[in-house]
Amino acid sequence: MKEYKRTLVTAALPYANGPLHIGHLAGAYIPSDIYVRYLRLKKKEVLFIGGSDEHGVPITIRAKKEGVTPKDVIDRFHYQMKETFKGMGISYDIYGRTSSETHEKLASDFFRKLYDNGKFIQKTSEQYYDPEAKMFLADRYITGECPHCHNEKAYGDQCEKCGTSLSPTDLINPVSTVTGCKPVMKETTHWYLPLEQYQEWLEKWILEGHKEWRPNVYGQCKSWLDMGLQPRAVSRDLDWGIPVPVEGAEGKVLYVWFDAPIGYISNTKELCDAHPEKGSWETWWKDQDTRLVHFIGKDNIVFHCIVFPSMLKAEGSYILPDNVPSNEFLNLEDDKISTSRNWAVWVHEYLEDFPGKADVMRYVLTANAPETKDNNFTWKDFQARNNNELVAVYGNFVNRALVLTQKYFNGSVPERGELTDYDNETLKEFADVKQNLENLLENFKFREAQKEAMNLARIGNKYLADTEPWKLAKTDMKRVETILNIALQLVANLAIAFEPFLPFSSEKLRGMIGLETFDWNQLGSIDLLAAGHVMAKPELLFEKIEDDAIEAQIQKLLKSKEENEKKAAAEKPANPIKANIEFPEFEKLDIRVGTVLECQKVPKADKLLQFKIDDGLGGRTILSGIAAYYKPEELVGKQVCFIANLAPRKIRGIESQGMILSALDADGKLAVTTVEKQVKPGSEVC
Ligand code: MF3
Ligand code: ZN
Repeated sequence: MKEYKRTLVTAALPYANGPLHIGHLAGAYIPSDIYVRYLRLKKKEVLFIGGSDEHGVPITIRAKKEGVTPKDVIDRFHYQMKETFKGMGISYDIYGRTSSETHEKLASDFFRKLYDNGKFIQKTSEQYYDPEAKMFLADRYITGECPHCHNEKAYGDQCEKCGTSLSPTDLINPVSTVTGCKPVMKETTHWYLPLEQYQEWLEKWILEGHKEWRPNVYGQCKSWLDMGLQPRAVSRDLDWGIPVPVEGAEGKVLYVWFDAPIGYISNTKELCDAHPEKGSWETWWKDQDTRLVHFIGKDNIVFHCIVFPSMLKAEGSYILPDNVPSNEFLNLEDDKISTSRNWAVWVHEYLEDFPGKADVMRYVLTANAPETKDNNFTWKDFQARNNNELVAVYGNFVNRALVLTQKYFNGSVPERGELTDYDNETLKEFADVKQNLENLLENFKFREAQKEAMNLARIGNKYLADTEPWKLAKTDMKRVETILNIALQLVANLAIAFEPFLPFSSEKLRGMIGLETFDWNQLGSIDLLAAGHVMAKPELLFEKIEDDAIEAQIQKLLKSKEENEKKAAAEKPANPIKANIEFPEFEKLDIRVGTVLECQKVPKADKLLQFKIDDGLGGRTILSGIAAYYKPEELVGKQVCFIANLAPRKIRGIESQGMILSALDADGKLAVTTVEKQVKPGSEVC
């Protein structure tokens, strides 16, 4: 493998159209931060570039919905995300934004250079246009009937009901969401990057040259290449974005996926211009000794592995990514995370609900990192990992070592005497940790790497449990000194090993033990704390998370699920009136009024109520699935309408002799039908 001088790490620029959720963190931000912190600890030259992606249609849609400008939307979420990243310890060297002047100029110049060098093709095609609003319609601005499932609210790019990808012309009865009018077809001209011209080069570069990429990334690239690449439009008819810097291109902007990845470059430039000691941005982007690594989620693979590299290649002076570690998706409580359904753990809310516990979430998301397949986050697992691993293993070992040192030596690191065979065995077990960690981290296997770090704490715990210094204190203080010296060296090693994963806890731990130097290369050393060095009073590194805190989070999710179901019910179109019937058919129904004599729940059937009805004919039993709407006692004495000649049916072993009529509205409210004044039981409804 080539030895590089420096590493440029980027993390996907999140859209500034909503807050961050844990899926974002698990996908790109925690892995990139672990990697960068590791390289920094190794004293490598590294930059970590991030920022907000502030163009694109979803931002304009949100602005329109809220009656504010797109600028209002991006300002709100840019600053919110920046804070959230900070709260989670994501240690960007810069968190920039694509609405900056630097970016606009760089992206514009980039486009212009490709344009001047004839790297684009220009094509005219017909697209939907809103004649009233006088604008071309982005796919998301058109709704209509899905040709597959006949959902009437499918979008021009996708039907969210059946999940099919669509193009706007697939929709039946398309409607512009801007004005509600019917769009018309109109000619428009755009610039395209002819990706098919890069096909051969990409096949060589990726399929032959980067077999080491993760299988999910390599596989996706291969399937795109196998399908054969097509020209991709790099401009759009839209009034939000970077104007296409070409004469006669009024009303056209750069496609967001053209300008956003250039944001990595412009944010680097912004950083280096303000901090010349970091070097020149061009060294970071154009010197062959720079290693470029993009961290992304799996929905971004094609843009980072195929489109952006083709753009860089076309431009000619830039380096290409050496690796593109991409994660799969994280689910939440076994369901897909969804912003529109509010099925998410919002990171800014997490930081409010669990102050001082950024590391716990970092730990859990890395322990469940969706590195090779989709993975699942549950609050119960979150609690278990905190209580059984962070508290019971890592925290417990550190605490025991420090408290014992406090107790026997007033917090002063004791001398290490002669080592026993058992000591040597323990030290041997931990001698490999550094090498193992490095191998895993350098191969982007963060989940296993974190496990390896935790293993170090397990070794420590076992060492104390086996040597029992608290018992030896009565007989052999010399031995206790050695044992605690070794334990404390392990504690110091933990502070280093965990820094990339749990930076806040490492800092706290370093403070407690007074570990001044902090360098990856010291990992594995048993001379990190000198004898006689006095440590501060220990505090707990982690604390138990109780059931009620977890229950509250689960309730929060259940509430959003309920609200969603209500919303879905309200949006469901009213059932169309059924086809006409003739009077004789109606006459076949025998509808009567009866008085409820008894009503009770059916055991083990949560929906059913069992009625005893006075039907004027000696009484009958009817079952009805309305237990969710009424308490049985509320209905006793009421007169209800029921179908008296419905053939009897056995439900749960009970014969139901008819059917009580109820009305159900779109909000899910239910009411039994009754009569306006008392009548004799058995009266006919006609
Ligand atoms: N905003 C995109 C997303 O969230 C990611 C953009 S990454 C960049 O999916 F390369 F374009 F910057
Ligand atoms: Zn559909």
